[in-house]
Amino acid sequence: MKVTLSVIKADVGGLVGHHVVPVELEEVAWGVLEEHKDELLFDFDVTHVGDDLVLIMTHDRGEDNEEVHRVAWDVFKEAAELAKEMGLYGAGQDLLKEAFSGNVRGMGPGVAEMSFEERPSEPVIVFAADKTEAGAWNLPLFRIFADPFNTAGLIIDPHLHNGFRFEVWDLIEHKKVFMNTPEEMYDLLALIGSPGRFAVKRVFPKPGHVIDENEPVAVASTERLYEEAGRYVGKDDPVMVVRAQHGLPAVGEVMEPFAFPHLVAGWMRGSHWGPLMPVSVKDAKPTRFDGPPRVIALGYQIKNGMLIGPEDMFDDPSFDRAREIANAVADYMRRHGPFEPHRVSFHDLEYTTMPKVLEKLRDRFEPL
Ligand code: 13P
Ligand code: 13P
Ligand code: MG
Ligand code: MG
Repeated sequence: MKVTLSVIKADVGGLVGHHVVPVELEEVAWGVLEEHKDELLFDFDVTHVGDDLVLIMTHDRGEDNEEVHRVAWDVFKEAAELAKEMGLYGAGQDLLKEAFSGNVRGMGPGVAEMSFEERPSEPVIVFAADKTEAGAWNLPLFRIFADPFNTAGLIIDPHLHNGFRFEVWDLIEHKKVFMNTPEEMYDLLALIGSPGRFAVKRVFPKPGHVIDENEPVAVASTERLYEEAGRYVGKDDPVMVVRAQHGLPAVGEVMEPFAFPHLVAGWMRGSHWGPLMPVSVKDAKPTRFDGPPRVIALGYQIKNGMLIGPEDMFDDPSFDRAREIANAVADYMRRHGPFEPHRVSFHDLEYTTMPKVLEKLRDRFEPL
């Protein structure tokens, strides 16, 4: 059967500051989604990473479906109302429009959706990150689907041996390009090594794979909040879905890149580079300097459209070392204080409140 997995997220208010989604807001989400179970949704789950509320929904309406998006919007609106009543910080932060108009894209929330023919066993991992941007998934997606030092199956499983096809979005020029690995690996890296500009949107199998070449095997949200809002309101805090096993990277190969807490842009005021720390949901509460940035991973088996799970994939001592390294790197980066490369580049600060600070200095500059 054909199933659509829609992961839609928004920050609608934090307790305290930009720290965490309080349980009351998750209860709102459960209540609203429960009303739509069986009739619109096959199944759903609700989670959070830091101050971002994440809705995980299965249905058969396809991507960008108006009804599914409207339900997500209703959840966020209702949760934002409660956030306002509770005086939570940044209540309604990511809801940039008043009225819903057919699709949540461009309205603030982040969206990762894919439709596929459900396999007899369909393992998927839903990732969600706080205090960072969409391009944060570039490094792990490359390693999962294109790096044989990460994914043993690229060498020893004939189904993976042909490689994969990456759909890369230029987030500034609003263009996309498809690139095949391993053939175009170096060209691909030339682009996605600049995660502030290029982001992997989807990964596909190549022709001849057991999965249809038009069915994504991974999808990421690429919404850029400052661009949609025209000002800094918070970070994108992206989500991603990766299918695993049977001709695809194994679950452990999907998890492996996160053993290295790579540097991502975001953290305090969306303006600092820091390590992406893999954590269980219970530890998805960025505190130190509003971080360091966090990633959670929930594993499900999808069966007849139902979500069996979740398994909290980073709730595993084998990621303790990554967390230790992330803490050491956080110490090291923090000691730079307001200096680059801890603080993001001058160019990137144009999207924050920095221009207002510099405005008052403008007239004081004299020619050299
Ligand atoms: P405030 O001025 O709202 O405290 O801004 C700081 C901040 O949290 C940026 O998101
Ligand atoms: P969020 O994007 O998670 O709301 O964080 C905003 C921020 O400025 C944290 O310092
Ligand atoms: Mg926030
Ligand atoms: Mg957030």
